Amino acid sequence: MTNNVAAFDKWIRGAFREMNTALEEMYFAREQRQSVEGVGDDIKAQLTAEGRACIAALLAEGNTDEGFDQQYKLLGAVGLYMAACRRHEITEPSRETTSPLVEASALALQLSTSLGVTPRFASCHLSGFNPAENGVYRTFTNLADEFLFIDYNTLGVFAYQRAAEALTRMLPLGISHPLVRYLLRDAQAGLRDVIKYNDKLFSELDVERFFNSVRPYYKPYRVGANIYRGANAGDFAGINIIDLLLGVCNANNPSYSQLLVDKFLFMSPHEQALLKDCMRRRSFMNQFLDVIDSHSQSDWYQKNLEAFLQLLELHGEAAAQHHDQLVSKFIEGPSAQLPQASLTNITASGPPLPVLLRSLERLRDLRMAADRDDIPSRHADIQRLKASLRAA
Ligand code: HEM
Repeated sequence: MTNNVAAFDKWIRGAFREMNTALEEMYFAREQRQSVEGVGDDIKAQLTAEGRACIAALLAEGNTDEGFDQQYKLLGAVGLYMAACRRHEITEPSRETTSPLVEASALALQLSTSLGVTPRFASCHLSGFNPAENGVYRTFTNLADEFLFIDYNTLGVFAYQRAAEALTRMLPLGISHPLVRYLLRDAQAGLRDVIKYNDKLFSELDVERFFNSVRPYYKPYRVGANIYRGANAGDFAGINIIDLLLGVCNANNPSYSQLLVDKFLFMSPHEQALLKDCMRRRSFMNQFLDVIDSHSQSDWYQKNLEAFLQLLELHGEAAAQHHDQLVSKFIEGPSAQLPQASLTNITASGPPLPVLLRSLERLRDLRMAADRDDIPSRHADIQRLKASLRAA
């Protein structure tokens, strides 16, 4: 790590975090918590100038060949700075045609191009790719609810990744292999953990703090001339690997493949490669359907299908929980209290809230294989598979 990189990292972990926290406390004490204009202007000016000085030094140094980990970490730090400037409305994409953070944009664009990722901060810069120092990882603020949100998000991602990995290991074995039951049970354990951590978020995260002091850092912002959509906890490959290998979602469905295209560059190159590989595979659901007439009386079929169907149930349950509990309690509920004008950019991806909610609802219903004929739900196929199970 060069001296300039170390100085920037130290600033992000120190003064930057303190200034964001101080600003959050000021906003939170106001009656109109959403309106941040004209509040803490001296701190905002200091944050902008100190960050710019660190970044200008890095840009002059031409720091582009420090290896993947260092570069990716540096992109995350520049991204945290740009996201904070957006949150405090030091920048505002609808007000500008190009980012006023010229040096930060130049460094982010340069790093991201060589890394093959989006030029903004992505959720993994706070979750799976967030090195701790002396027990503390990088955050925007010192607020307990930010740590809580990141901790359970990260644990949820790890748990999805565990399930996805178990499914990927099934691929070379085939659905009739006697040991796939072990892998299916491992995948089930992963999804049970997802459900457990979602439950914790639901009960422990403070709605007001999350909505007013954490979520605003995840908004879209400009890098150079372009606006990049916000970060969200879903920007990892595991959940889509599960969708595709189980067979509840299909990349031939244009709205689902659009989601994949949109999230590709928000994932690390390693995650991108995992997702690409599984997109060319035949789903396990289709593999079971292929043999339903020829093998449904076999012992292996009965046992492996039973474990597979239990896994499908858990995937649907976790999806329902994300939508009906997390999105509903932490986004939909508090948004309903706001005047129409304050709703812009509440979400990370940018579309108006009702449009976003409808698309999340469709995803939930695909994962739950709901009985809907306006989306390519696998409801009928799953009913057929269930009917092929012998009564215990
Ligand atoms: C307080 C907790 C959470 C809230 C309020 C929340 C809310 C949202 C919202 C509103 C979106 C749409 C993107 C956008 O913001 O524009 C989204 C997307 C997504 N979130 Fe969450 N989320 C939470 C936690 C989690 C966790 C813990 C996970 C999994 C580890 C997760 C997985 C996803 C995924 C995969 C997507 C992309 C769409 C999809 O494939 O379903 N979220 N989330």
